[in-house]
Amino acid sequence: MSQFSYIKDIAKYGLENDQEKLLAVLNELIEHSKKNKKINFAIQLQSLLKDTIRQQQTNGLTKVGSENYLQRAEDREVNELILEKLTSDYTFENLVCDAKVKKELVYFIKEHQTADLLRKYDLPIANKVLLHGPSGCGKTLASYVLAGELQKMMVVVNLGAIVSAKLGETSKNLAKIFRRAASEECIIFIDEFDSLGKVRDYSQDHGEMKRVVNTILQLFDYLPQNSMVIAATNQKEMVDDALLRRFDLSVKFNLPTVKQIQELITLTLKNGQFAFDNKTKVAEIIKLSKGLSYYSIQKTLITAIKRSIFNQAEKVKPLTTKISTTVWKELIIEEKKSLAK
Ligand SMILES: Nc1ncnc2c1ncn2[C@@H]1O[C@H](COP(=O)(O)OP(=O)(O)OP(=O)(O)O)[C@@H](O)[C@H]1O
Ligand SMILES: [Mg+2]
Repeated sequence: MSQFSYIKDIAKYGLENDQEKLLAVLNELIEHSKKNKKINFAIQLQSLLKDTIRQQQTNGLTKVGSENYLQRAEDREVNELILEKLTSDYTFENLVCDAKVKKELVYFIKEHQTADLLRKYDLPIANKVLLHGPSGCGKTLASYVLAGELQKMMVVVNLGAIVSAKLGETSKNLAKIFRRAASEECIIFIDEFDSLGKVRDYSQDHGEMKRVVNTILQLFDYLPQNSMVIAATNQKEMVDDALLRRFDLSVKFNLPTVKQIQELITLTLKNGQFAFDNKTKVAEIIKLSKGLSYYSIQKTLITAIKRSIFNQAEKVKPLTTKISTTVWKELIIEEKKSLAK
């Protein structure tokens, strides 16, 4: 069936309020899209469908105390703990990193893409990765790249919120999230993984801390092979050693080198609408930027572009805007000063 035929059927059954047939066509369309490599679209449609069905179930009357009621109460709670649920179009082209980091991540992805082959040899599949390193150097971005390259849905878990808001319930909540993610076959991304270590600071109750760490150890140990956990932290030293050992892979993100700053600039200016007014000064600014994160450098460059557009003499849009290196240099100096405070 062509895509147009699907749209026609969807319109027809939607207007006729024939939910049963509508669902059947939507499911066919999901399968059709998967076959035609429109995986992202298929995942989005699937998630839309699931959410709507869940909502419809919630809107109906249920008896308090019934199994259905408990199920829904749990769904609500789990949703509060999940920061967002996303699909991603990012690929390695969006990430500037060391060749070593890229190689590790590419192999990690490959394990999942060739899982069937590895299973034939009874080999375990690496499915737990820790991304660590300074702020603004691409850990969250890399998690999007992994989700994009694998074409999988990703749930972002707000560990900071779980630990601080409901300390006593952290173990239970984490177990719920892992269960949900496994049933929906999505990647679990745990940001601020160091928050677990902070349990030690928040409370005198070391028992609680131990319980939480033990829960995670168990969840990690029994993680189904087709599930995947990505954790990120900029304070690896806060993470318990037993937890660190559970990761199949630990990838360190560093501050950019001169060459990487150049790559970041090329990436940021890739649509070709902007060029620098002075090439020699660019080299000087790059040197000056050493020690700043990718995030800081990109942020100041984008601000410099905007200011250059505002200051441009002709108000008619020229083909390429000249980026003022004087403005950018000032911004880099300010950024360094504000970070040094
Ligand atoms: N390695 C990189 N390559 C390209 N862009 C990057 C890179 N690192 C950071 N950026 C840019 O900076 C933004 C913020 O980076 P990101 O959120 O990945 O940092 P992070 O390492 O997760 O920091 P934090 O520890 O503060 O969470 C990205 O969305 C991207 O625009
Ligand atoms: Mg981050």
